[in-house]
Amino acid sequence: MDAATHIVILTETDSLEKRVALTPEGVQALKKEHEAIRITVETGAGEASGYADKEYVEAGAETGEDRKALAASADLLLAVNFPPDEVIRGMKKGSAVISFMWALQHADRVKMLQECNVTGVAMDTIPRISRAQSMDALSSMSNIAGYRAAIIGADTLNRYMPMMMTAAGTIPPARVLVLGAGVAGLQAIATAKRLGAIVEAFDVRPVVKEQVESLGASFVEVPLEEDEGDTETKGGYAKELSERNKAKQQEVVHERVKKSDIVITTALIPGRPAPKLVTRAMVEDMKSGSVVVDIAAEQGGNCELTVPGETISHHGVMVCGPLNLPSTLANHASKLYSKNILSLLKLMLKESTLVFPFDDEIVLNATVTHDGELVSPFVKEHS
Ligand SMILES: NC(=O)c1ccc[n+]([C@@H]2O[C@H](COP(=O)([O-])OP(=O)(O)OC[C@H]3O[C@@H](n4cnc5c(N)ncnc54)[C@H](O)[C@@H]3O)[C@@H](O)[C@H]2O)c1
Repeated sequence: MDAATHIVILTETDSLEKRVALTPEGVQALKKEHEAIRITVETGAGEASGYADKEYVEAGAETGEDRKALAASADLLLAVNFPPDEVIRGMKKGSAVISFMWALQHADRVKMLQECNVTGVAMDTIPRISRAQSMDALSSMSNIAGYRAAIIGADTLNRYMPMMMTAAGTIPPARVLVLGAGVAGLQAIATAKRLGAIVEAFDVRPVVKEQVESLGASFVEVPLEEDEGDTETKGGYAKELSERNKAKQQEVVHERVKKSDIVITTALIPGRPAPKLVTRAMVEDMKSGSVVVDIAAEQGGNCELTVPGETISHHGVMVCGPLNLPSTLANHASKLYSKNILSLLKLMLKESTLVFPFDDEIVLNATVTHDGELVSPFVKEHS
């Protein structure tokens, strides 16, 4: 690859997508550190997230209209979602793409990258280790999803969130239950608290109890049979529960759901379909006008009644299954994603040239394919 690496950013094509992979601020930061780099942004690529072409040009990028020509001339394509097939197939051999990839769910993408000899770097396989925190786009986006989940809950509920003492009487605060207290869940808790609700949360990993309580929420205890080590993997993720424990959890959760005005579900077990935590019977026991916000809708949902992408009413309870929540906050989501990309590029740009230091576990795990070969040990192990 010659010295003047050409970085290209195309307009995202998914109908729900408003984000852009690199902001004008990101362009400026890259150009400051690597003057020789050429950056071209497709005309209008930042428009839906509030970043105008003019800002990109002022930051040092060029703009171009011909998507096909831009893809063909890119040494590195930066994207949020994995680009359409025709874009990848139109790229040069030896060039690279960085985007969310979901290689385990999309073997076809991996095969295409190998066939085209395009290096694929996946933002979703960056290991969740301390050194990679600034590159952790999954966490940046989940944080937004958790925040939006609480806002959607408050917006859909036909009652107040905070306690209201008015001349016409006192209204008690809403009760919010958050199931799954990972990145999204903790942000949902913090946001619901800020809106004045009484919040409680449950997670199968007892280690999060302290984090839940530090946000001012109470932790729902379920007396599970395994000890702490058994519900969590070495990497800090949840494991699937045994059938006996699932039944115990359901019993306790049912009681809490019944009393809640809003239930926000964010439970995830990596590589598995979303665990079903809220049953039809539980929803039918909720007060009319209550709300379930299920942000695991993309993975099949934590609630039995969730319809991905839709809000349905069941016995007067609204069940929301929103998709692509980060896109609904496209300006900040793009800003954070762009910063995550920049942090990763610090490891992969040397003297303005793209490099792949596979002795670095972050680059190794994030690189799905290189030189037509499968690289990421994470993807190899799980596919
Ligand atoms: N809708 C959207 O736009 C959007 C955006 C980002 C993330 N998400 C989804 O949000 C969910 C959470 O993402 P995250 O980054 O916070 O994941 P995370 O891994 O940080 O958190 C998931 C939590 O669920 C817990 N959990 C697993 N099984 C459980 C069970 N049976 N009961 C209670 N808790 C359980 C885990 O212990 C973990 O704390 C995922 O499904 C993710 O795909 C959706």
